[in-house]
Amino acid sequence: MKLADNKATLSFSNGSPSIELPVYQGTVGPDVVDIRKLYGQTGMFTYDPGFLSTASCQSAITYIDGDKGELQYRGYPIEQLATNCDFLETCHLLLYGNLPDAAAKAQFSKRVTQHTMVNEQMQFFMRGFRRDAHPMAILTGLVGALSAFYHDSTDINNPEHRDVAAIRLIAKMPTLVAMAYRYSLGLPYMYPRNSLSYAGNFMHMMFASPCEDYVVNPVIERALDRIFVLHADHEQNASTSTVRLCGSSGTNPFAAIAAGVACLWGPAHGGANEACLNMLDEIQRTGGVAKVGQFMEQVKDKNSTVKLMGFGHRVYKNYDPRAKLMQETCKEVLAALGLENDPLFKLAMALEKIALEDDYFVQRKLYPNVDFYSGIVQRAIGVPVNMFTGVFALARTVGWIAQLNEMIGDPEYKIGRPRQLFTGAARRDVLPIAKR
Ligand code: CMC
Repeated sequence: MKLADNKATLSFSNGSPSIELPVYQGTVGPDVVDIRKLYGQTGMFTYDPGFLSTASCQSAITYIDGDKGELQYRGYPIEQLATNCDFLETCHLLLYGNLPDAAAKAQFSKRVTQHTMVNEQMQFFMRGFRRDAHPMAILTGLVGALSAFYHDSTDINNPEHRDVAAIRLIAKMPTLVAMAYRYSLGLPYMYPRNSLSYAGNFMHMMFASPCEDYVVNPVIERALDRIFVLHADHEQNASTSTVRLCGSSGTNPFAAIAAGVACLWGPAHGGANEACLNMLDEIQRTGGVAKVGQFMEQVKDKNSTVKLMGFGHRVYKNYDPRAKLMQETCKEVLAALGLENDPLFKLAMALEKIALEDDYFVQRKLYPNVDFYSGIVQRAIGVPVNMFTGVFALARTVGWIAQLNEMIGDPEYKIGRPRQLFTGAARRDVLPIAKR
């Protein structure tokens, strides 16, 4: 973080003395006004619900230019990473700041694969859940429970603990997501197969049967790997900020990541892929492509709460670069599986076409986001709709843990403690119950 040449001056119309605030520059992107001394100097807070204009931290991990539709992990454009690197290389990049060479990649992959199994006792923990529990409810519980199973990596202030926790989380998330899926169907859990790739092993744990050999379809393996790469990190979004805030109290890494899983579940965030597929299903059920126009009228109606799920983004106001890459994968998967004429895919394309041409969406700069396509891909692969967000959580875990570790290593890090503008009742006295 570098001091800019200019400073900001804050003046008040009531004659209070004005104050000067330092301005810092990053490598790229908007400068920031440092308001840390504002309260001390003026007795005032800033007000920014939803953090529309607030940088909550400095970070060197992920950069997004929402107007240009650019996303970079550690400086590398997402398009290059998605086409040249696999997920474990991307994990190495996010965690350690560099892309591994062949030897470092082999060593990192070996470390991850050594941790893919979970404590056998977790099966019994799992049994406490209803079979029809939402997988995200199960996942939140399972990830939180890791802190009860891996005591030797729970000290967030110990760099070795943090490193082992990072590897464990990346390695065990596919196992936990697959366990949640198999449990819901009453199927036996499949142990990890360490000879397979990260994505291939996940497919094996999800879809293989102990009675038969399972052959990984390379098109699906590549598609899943791309889903993982595209979802691996996304700077200070709601779940990442949740992980940072949670971890800032000194809680253990597993508890902090469980908080991230819980936040991701919401339909405005990671739950959008599930919500998008449910929306497509609903339109399909009530008339299909012929009903798209009517549905769009509802979306645009100010008095309705219906949104076009999978559209719009807080930061991307041009296009979501992940969506472009996911659209490619979507076409590849549907072609490989002979599903090009899938009615739901056709419906999605009809919605996309109308939305991209409609003034309502154009004026508000609403474009399809990654979840619009990732849901279609996952459905084609055979992942059930209510598992979609779990797959997102699996992929985002590395981003969460990289951001958490970055925060703990930052000498300026403090417990996160936002303030408020209080608008409730001023001090008043409690009346005896008979007089209230
Ligand atoms: N459908 C219809 N109208 C929309 C939509 C949508 N999907 N998204 C935004 N708008 C409208 C919104 O009603 C508002 O209109 P007006 O100015 O007339 O009041 C305007 O566009 C600006 O919206 P906003 O709510 O101020 O935008 P935001 O930046 O606060 O919200 C969002 C971003 C992602 C929460 C929102 O676009 C949304 O709810 N989209 C659908 C859910 C979704 O797909 N989320 C996944 C995000 S990508 C995955 C991830 O990173 O988690």
